[in-house]
Amino acid sequence: MTRPAIDALPASRIREVANAGLGRDDVLAFWFGESDEVTPQAVRDAAAASLQRGETFYSHNLGLPELRQAIADYTSALHRPVGVERIAVTSSGVSALMVAMQMLAGAGDEVVAVVPVWPNLTAQPAILGAQVVRVPLAPRADGAWALDLDRVLAAVTARTRVLLVNAPNNPTGWTLSRAEQQALLDHCRRTGTWIVADEVYERVWFGDAPAGERPPHGRACAPSFLDIADPGDRLVVVHSFSKSFLMTGWRLGWLVLPPAQLDAAGKLLEFNSSCAPVFVQRGAQAALDLADAFVPGLVQRLRAGRDRLHDGLARLPGVHAARPLGGMYAWFRIDGEADSLALAKRLVREHGLGLAPGVAFGPEGEGWLRWCFASADLARLDAGVQRLAAALEHRPA
Ligand SMILES: Cc1ncc(COP(=O)(O)O)c(C=O)c1O
Repeated sequence: MTRPAIDALPASRIREVANAGLGRDDVLAFWFGESDEVTPQAVRDAAAASLQRGETFYSHNLGLPELRQAIADYTSALHRPVGVERIAVTSSGVSALMVAMQMLAGAGDEVVAVVPVWPNLTAQPAILGAQVVRVPLAPRADGAWALDLDRVLAAVTARTRVLLVNAPNNPTGWTLSRAEQQALLDHCRRTGTWIVADEVYERVWFGDAPAGERPPHGRACAPSFLDIADPGDRLVVVHSFSKSFLMTGWRLGWLVLPPAQLDAAGKLLEFNSSCAPVFVQRGAQAALDLADAFVPGLVQRLRAGRDRLHDGLARLPGVHAARPLGGMYAWFRIDGEADSLALAKRLVREHGLGLAPGVAFGPEGEGWLRWCFASADLARLDAGVQRLAAALEHRPA
């Protein structure tokens, strides 16, 4: 018998849609959150050289000291200075999230989550037996989603162990403003609540900070809790190499923690994965060396994909989408289509178009669809839009 909390976990709705297209090679799939570009050559070379050197052994729980230092330097260049005693390397962003949850939320603890959100964030505390309280973002008339700050502040009380927030947000593209961030931090300081901030899309950001909030380094980056928090604040920031460095298959991420929590993270890492593979970490070091040369170009390509897809969707009658400020997803709804799972399955089966149903991100996402625009090939996005147009013309009565 598995535990009831595990039996209660929903199966992935994105997989359910993908299964509807199984065995077909004519499906244009935009359902997963990754680019179709391969990892930069220098990163692959560094990992290959590591393997050639025979770096095939167990290593430090918290990550290679030189990679941790490189992450601390990278983080400090983007935000307030962060010391190496606050960095733990993890085997993926999703594993970083799990370690953060294991560290902070146990059976019966209350975790407040801003939703809709990538389902792993809310599944993890549920697996641990915590009670997840969902606080929805609200769709605005223009299709963009916004935080109901008062509602979050009312939900987070002295009973709340963790506030879980992902911004830039997967799936909606919503991003926290500096003022909202400050309000959440101030409130959580008062209630004694931990903030777990999933900032894996911080560099995949298309906004310009308002005057007065622009970082002196000039690098494009979404507002981060690390810009305003003190080292000792109850804040854990979750990161990944997947999105900004095209390294989804490498499975590497990191945590930024208060120094007092580093030992706990090290213990948990021992019991989860023991350590990340050394050759993968060597690749990650090369990625950080490349950051200033590589990330701006990637963001430019993602911006082109975002604009191409958004313009295409905006031309379709009855389709409502806002241009997202961050992340790599168009998030939209179609008049008369309330059942996102049925629609996504029909799009795959009848039109060869693979999208993620909004309900995969929680009941708040019902009626919406998510489309990953991280494609280096803009013509592929155009072809997808044509398939959607055809599907809308030939709707079942
Ligand atoms: C919001 C969010 N957080 C974390 C992750 C985890 O990334 P990874 O496990 O590939 O590092 C993802 C991946 O899609 C994500 O969308």
